Amino acid sequence: MADDTQKTRAPRIDWDLLRTKALEVANHAYAPYSKFRVGAAALVDDGRIVTGCNVENASYGLTLCAECGIVSELARSGGGRLVAICTVGNDQPVTPCGRCRQLLWEHGGASLLLEVNGEPKRMSEMLPAAFPEESVFVNPEGGSSS
Ligand code: THU
Repeated sequence: MADDTQKTRAPRIDWDLLRTKALEVANHAYAPYSKFRVGAAALVDDGRIVTGCNVENASYGLTLCAECGIVSELARSGGGRLVAICTVGNDQPVTPCGRCRQLLWEHGGASLLLEVNGEPKRMSEMLPAAFPEESVFVNPEGGSSS
């Protein structure tokens, strides 16, 4: 059987597994203010799965969404591109907030699949005309540091 984890092609997306992992990691959420316990799990292009949970703060605006944890864990565990992400809150599906769509765009781009009410949707649909690709901005460094 072909190896799903080869870098040369996208790994198979097991949405049930991603949902299970998202539900598991939501148990680690720190959400004393909203009481909304969020977990997210994402498939990386090399086949590994990264997870994150929300971490709130008494200064509400400083709250870290579960997807922030995903991005941090992605970098910590070796980088790569995000292929698919599932987010849940209090055991129900959650559509990532606008700020998190931008954060995720950086690491998955237009083809990243989000599970929206049980349906995979491309990020290009969830964050149309995204920055920076759809703007005149040019990165003076010419690329990323990875
Ligand atoms: N939250 C996330 O973790 N991800 C999202 O995409 C939406 C919102 C968290 C932030 C806050 O801790 C709680 O959900 C209520 O907004």
